Amino acid sequence: MSSVNEETRHPFLEGLSKHRGAPPTVIVIFGASGDLTARKLVPAIFNLGLDNLLPGEFHLIGYGRRPIKDEDFRKMMDEAIGVHSRRSLNKEVWERVRQNISYHTGGYDEPETFESLAKKINKIEKKLGREMQRMFYISTPPSVFGSVIKNLGSSGMAQVHVQTKLASKVIVEKPFGRDLGSARELNAVINSVFEEPQVYRIDHYLGKETVQDLLVQRFANSIFEPLWNREYVDCVQITVAESLGVGSRGGYYDTSGALRDMIQNHTMQLVALTAMEPPVSLDPESIRDEKVKVIKAIQPLKLDTDLVRARYINGIIRGDPVKGYMDEADIPSDSGTETYAAMRLAINNWRWQGVPFYVRSGKRMARRASEIAIQFKRPPGILFSEGDKYNVAANTMVISIQPDEGVTLVMNSKIPGLETRTQPVKMHYRYSTTFGSNTPEAYERLILDAMIGDSTLFIRGDETEASWKLLTPVLKQWETSGSVGMEEYAAGSWGPSQSDHLLAQRQHKWRRSG
Ligand code: NDP
Ligand code: BG6
Repeated sequence: MSSVNEETRHPFLEGLSKHRGAPPTVIVIFGASGDLTARKLVPAIFNLGLDNLLPGEFHLIGYGRRPIKDEDFRKMMDEAIGVHSRRSLNKEVWERVRQNISYHTGGYDEPETFESLAKKINKIEKKLGREMQRMFYISTPPSVFGSVIKNLGSSGMAQVHVQTKLASKVIVEKPFGRDLGSARELNAVINSVFEEPQVYRIDHYLGKETVQDLLVQRFANSIFEPLWNREYVDCVQITVAESLGVGSRGGYYDTSGALRDMIQNHTMQLVALTAMEPPVSLDPESIRDEKVKVIKAIQPLKLDTDLVRARYINGIIRGDPVKGYMDEADIPSDSGTETYAAMRLAINNWRWQGVPFYVRSGKRMARRASEIAIQFKRPPGILFSEGDKYNVAANTMVISIQPDEGVTLVMNSKIPGLETRTQPVKMHYRYSTTFGSNTPEAYERLILDAMIGDSTLFIRGDETEASWKLLTPVLKQWETSGSVGMEEYAAGSWGPSQSDHLLAQRQHKWRRSG
């Protein structure tokens, strides 16, 4: 098959030359009739189309067990775009994407439907007159990740094209295992079929603009990095709070809980990016090497003193009464699952020894707020220390990940007037004010990066294993204890009081987030 200049064949006309181009691509989404495809994946693909970032030759195949006709699947996706797209429908662009969407019905453990899928892809390539890279997005429940991967291997679809060297890639959704053992098993299955550079393990927090900006804030400014260590930092507080409850996902959530659902992946990534050493370059492996080192340097957690788990009881959020976790749909009456977890992490390396990293994540908290707060040591209380007159706060840099993305510096200032009185003030930088509010969704960035082969914002196998290694003893203990030791917090609060004690032991206090 011939090799053709990408830009001249690009059907989305202008704009591509400004960006890194993706080669001709066929994306197969396994589990395409599900929630994630409609809410995130296809809207992300449409928005890439709007930005002229889809490759010239592009095809999307939905795959699933339920028989769906091509046109019916396209109609489902029409609706998905209408409801979930960040930007409103542009009929011309959507029509171009839409006419390259089809559906393939099949089971996840049926080798014959994988073979017919391979034939379908060959047919698409033949019609185009060229080979395409194949991207397999596994968006099913995790119980079938393994069989999809094995069938991709046995059908030959995992192989790189011999002539054009166009890749075959697999994108694996979370949860990546449920503990260290199952994560290792899944890595072993994946690596028996795909080479590591072909594997893209998703953590959508890495696709968020503010999370990516963390590296820029740290390493593109010279004023923060000299202070970013045990000499100047008193503690670090990372909060990932949601006001939503488990909604219709009770069945899944009860087998997971806050530690597996949020802390093992999203929150640990925030810890790693905050605490890591400067990478030698911005290439994916250098960044991932540094992240793994930090996670490995976290000391084993002391189960009786470093952790708090809790679940929400009924309460009030934004004026509306909401029910407690045990009254949500599909939660068994003997559930031992936490909806909130907090912990104190000790990173035992040269930079961070002695600086506690407090981490918390919960559902049905007072508001949606994810942030990283670097609390610096207080100045010596020599000049401004006298009672009410001098209200001196610890300097704090707050990186607000969502919803109000930006950076805030808390510093002390003189209150204007004839006497010298001080007060903490805030210096704000807001993304929306500086750059406008139309920020790409995480999945747009991640799908584009996978298409062009940039794995920086994806998790490497050893990274996920290091994080599970730290947390598996905790999970084991919590599973054994069931509800014993489970604290409670009212929906709409900032979590249980025990979580305050976790900080009070070291004379710290949670910041009021958001
Ligand atoms: P769904 O529960 O909606 O399942 C997706 C599809 O998988 C279904 O439409 C169904 O298609 C098939 N499926 C469902 N249950 C089973 C089963 N027991 N065995 C085999 N196939 C099944 O999942 P989501 O779309 O919500 O999520 C997909 C993946 O993405 C999951 O791994 C999830 O953890 C992850 N994820 C989802 C998020 C979300 O917001 N939804 C957020 C972050 C991650 P069919 O019957 O046609 O085969
Ligand atoms: C998902 C979790 O990974 O992240 C959900 O499974 C959670 O339980 C979601 O609600 C939060 O993502 P975001 O982008 O809304 O903060």
